[in-house]
Amino acid sequence: MGLFEQMTAKAKASRQRIVLPEGTEPRTLTAANRIIGDQIADIILIGNQVEIYRLADEMGLDNIRKAKIVDPADESIIDKYAPLFFELRKSKGITMEEARLTTANPLYLGCLMVKAGDADGQVAGAQNTTGNVLRAAFQVIKTQPGIDVVSGAFLMLVPPGLPYGTDGILIFADCAVVPDPTAPELAQIAVSAAKTARDIAGIEPRVAMLSFSTKGSAKHDLVQKVIDATKIAHEMAPDLILDGELQADAAIVPGVCASKAPNSPLSGRANVLIFPSLAVGNIAYKLVQRLGGVEAVGPVLQGLAAPVNDLSRGAFPEDIYKTIIMTCNQAIGLKENK
Ligand code: ACO
Repeated sequence: MGLFEQMTAKAKASRQRIVLPEGTEPRTLTAANRIIGDQIADIILIGNQVEIYRLADEMGLDNIRKAKIVDPADESIIDKYAPLFFELRKSKGITMEEARLTTANPLYLGCLMVKAGDADGQVAGAQNTTGNVLRAAFQVIKTQPGIDVVSGAFLMLVPPGLPYGTDGILIFADCAVVPDPTAPELAQIAVSAAKTARDIAGIEPRVAMLSFSTKGSAKHDLVQKVIDATKIAHEMAPDLILDGELQADAAIVPGVCASKAPNSPLSGRANVLIFPSLAVGNIAYKLVQRLGGVEAVGPVLQGLAAPVNDLSRGAFPEDIYKTIIMTCNQAIGLKENK
């Protein structure tokens, strides 16, 4: 069974409630219709019911009538969720009136539903920027215990025949969120990515902390940051198979590892690659995707207390469909490990 077949089966077996704040966005509606038809998750659409049904009818999306619809213009909905937002943000000096206005923003309303336990995860970003999707999640959902930095991982699905990753899967992080992580933040990104490997990819993580140096071959502040992060990550997760600092070839090629880092517990078989900065991670995943013909699935936002995932504004319905399935698996993983 391939990764998505496995994730779909897991999602179907434990139906999650996924909220889609962009409820009148056509690609989102197409994906929602398919998710409902395939009985993968219960869908909550945020938007005006008349508008959603009109679009669904025009597009022939019959299953949309089975979705729950939550209208941000409905005062009773604002009455229900605004006090929660006020509570979460009152230390920042907001008024109840400001809380009510923000609650009517679908990105915040969806997160508030997740926070209140009325939904299990959120998927958005077909219309909204990454920054707006992330900010709502940071302010409302917040992070998991022991983690204070949210980051973004990609599942890299290697074409058959190439000897990389586990079952052809590698996790790359951070490729989406934290521009210049400190050593403690980099350690958290590594621990979160290991969890993503387990919860979403179903593989046992073998984590490499990447640099342009292997075990002291170069000296620089940027190398030292990775050495420090490796030490902190070991303290945070002593049982995790994790090593650094390593160059990429020493991390994923057993022969190179044997000569450059013979004592590495990874033995050149890392399946989780942690990049020293967002510039490196973002460029690396895009180059591997384009030059290597590797499918990049994500970003999976990791470190949040409940899953919220961001879409590219160029996303196709198929991408949204897969992101919803991934979000269900994250929600299940978070509940299993509570
Ligand atoms: N994890 C957890 N909380 C965070 C994080 C984080 N990584 N970053 C910010 N926050 C919190 C802050 O602590 C703050 O909380 P508070 O209001 O309770 O005090 C809140 O979020 C807002 O913080 P700001 O510093 O104002 O956040 P800002 O709006 O500047 O930036 C953002 C956050 C949007 C994520 C920023 O870091 C960013 O733009 N990152 C790059 C995103 C990007 O462009 N990625 C590349 C494209 S994606 C792709 O190619 C797949």
